[in-house]
Amino acid sequence: MACLPAAPPALALRRWLGLGLFVLLCLSRGYALEKKVVKSKVGEKVGLPCCHEIPSSESLHNYRVYWQKNTTEVVLAYAEGRMISKHERYENRTEMDTRNLTLWISPMEILDNGPYQCVVQHLRFPQNSVVVCDEPVTLFVTADFSKPNITAEVSTNSCESTEMVVRCSSHGGFPKPKISGALNNVSVVWNASWVSESSLSPYNVTGKLWLNVTKDVSITCSVEHNGLLKSTSLLLKKPNTCFVPTVPPSYNVITASSIIIIIFLLAITLAARYLPRHVCSHYCKPQDSVEEGVKECMKPPMSSKGTSETSFL
Ligand SMILES: *[C@@H]1O[C@H](CO)[C@@H](O)[C@H](O)[C@H]1NC(C)=O
Ligand SMILES: *[C@@H]1O[C@H](CO)[C@@H](O)[C@H](O)[C@H]1NC(C)=O
Ligand SMILES: *[C@@H]1O[C@H](CO)[C@@H](O)[C@H](O)[C@H]1NC(C)=O
Ligand SMILES: *[C@@H]1O[C@H](CO)[C@@H](O)[C@H](O)[C@H]1NC(C)=O
Ligand SMILES: *[C@@H]1O[C@H](CO)[C@@H](O)[C@H](O)[C@H]1NC(C)=O
Ligand SMILES: *[C@@H]1O[C@H](CO)[C@@H](O)[C@H](O)[C@H]1NC(C)=O
Ligand SMILES: *[C@@H]1O[C@H](CO)[C@@H](O)[C@H](O)[C@H]1NC(C)=O
Ligand SMILES: *[C@@H]1O[C@H](CO)[C@@H](O)[C@H](O)[C@H]1NC(C)=O
Repeated sequence: MACLPAAPPALALRRWLGLGLFVLLCLSRGYALEKKVVKSKVGEKVGLPCCHEIPSSESLHNYRVYWQKNTTEVVLAYAEGRMISKHERYENRTEMDTRNLTLWISPMEILDNGPYQCVVQHLRFPQNSVVVCDEPVTLFVTADFSKPNITAEVSTNSCESTEMVVRCSSHGGFPKPKISGALNNVSVVWNASWVSESSLSPYNVTGKLWLNVTKDVSITCSVEHNGLLKSTSLLLKKPNTCFVPTVPPSYNVITASSIIIIIFLLAITLAARYLPRHVCSHYCKPQDSVEEGVKECMKPPMSSKGTSETSFL
């Protein structure tokens, strides 16, 4: 675009002749104008390159360096080797390399997104200082989205078909994501909504889908931002309601009767195991002979067993 004004007049011949020069001009200008973009993620450490490296014969004392954001806020500034200004929001998060003037920021925040610029002035006394260079660099900070969460809610169900509302949600990412879906590998469009507190805040995305299914289907939800895709799939089971509706016993009845049966069985088991000894302690004590008592214990009277069972119940 910046090259267009430099285009030669529309005469075909001159255009062809001038093409070489034009391309060269464009390449060099394009290179100079090429915007530097630094990409990073929330929480990471990143270095924004400056346009000047201080030669080893000199030091930061001979320079003034301004690192500014969006041409209005000074992030960090040095003059004659001393820090002269720093931004509250960047406090304790910045460092500048004293040789190549790279600005290091850590940990990265979404709010750090934006255009930055480093301006380097060389101090030459007693003359005025001269601007050595002035270069923009764009910082692009992203945040990952959570793995999409799919939930399904049946609204109406019959033997033939089931209507349900399927929701897919993912949160905490930046920038605004795209949400896509597939139903049995055929793409579907989610009715999507995004929420974010501001243009530089994490996004939450929710997709909604109304489905009318006649059999089990597989649904996939994908959330994409900045070339990164996160997907979740869920098998939606068609509830099988195609039987003659007999009144099924309620769960309470089943539970109560199972408990009674279990107690009953336990009672029998316990009685069979421990009762003989109890009977023994009752019946054996009066016995004089230990051996006779043991014998008695092995064969408890049938009647005692019967009574104990009934007493348990
Ligand atoms: C600046 O120096 C640091 C080491 O001090 C290095 O990691 C970084 O890559 C350098 N940056 C440039 C743009 O040369
Ligand atoms: C920066 O660090 C200093 C010293 O460690 C600390 O006193 C100050 O509270 C920190 N400031 C912020 C904004 O974290
Ligand atoms: C940069 O500043 C302009 C006005 O000075 C403002 O409209 C814009 O939103 C700012 N951009 C960023 C990324 O802060
Ligand atoms: C998915 O969402 C449901 C309902 O909002 C919630 O109960 C569940 O914990 C979520 N699962 C995950 C893995 O976030
Ligand atoms: C969907 O496609 C994938 C591969 O593209 C395949 O493995 C899978 O079985 C397919 N699922 C269905 C339900 O067709
Ligand atoms: C998406 O949902 C909104 C609100 O529930 C509704 O107004 C809109 O019609 C829906 N769009 C589609 C394509 O279903
Ligand atoms: C996004 O979702 C998270 C977790 O579910 C929640 O804590 C946060 O408040 C939501 N943000 C917005 C802007 O709704
Ligand atoms: C769902 O599908 C069934 C059978 O395919 C049909 O009878 C019913 O009307 C459909 N419901 C809706 C809301 O489209």
